[in-house]
Amino acid sequence: MSLPEKHVFVCIANRPPVAGASCGNSGSRELIERLQFALLEHGGPLVTQVKINGSTCLGPCEQGINMVVYPDGVWYSRVTPDDVQEIVESHLAGGRPVERLRFHGAS
Ligand code: FES
Repeated sequence: MSLPEKHVFVCIANRPPVAGASCGNSGSRELIERLQFALLEHGGPLVTQVKINGSTCLGPCEQGINMVVYPDGVWYSRVTPDDVQEIVESHLAGGRPVERLRFHGAS
């Protein structure tokens, strides 16, 4: 097995409803499936160059669904399944992060 060039972590944490929003409750597992399917659809070396995993809480829960792409250090927030194709084509395949979805941290 060759090591991936990019590693995508999608938060799949479920916080108790009293704690507020969480990515798991907002459909992040479906988002992972959509990402994996989009990679397969894209085909080519991208299928083995990109690894997608669920993660525990990334921190900015109210901004979910959150995900981060390494080694780029690019964070995305408020990601929906409708954004998946653009993330795959522009960022993972093309190397151009999707600026409108980027999360730069809250001050
Ligand atoms: S639940 Fe996803 S960032 Fe906290």
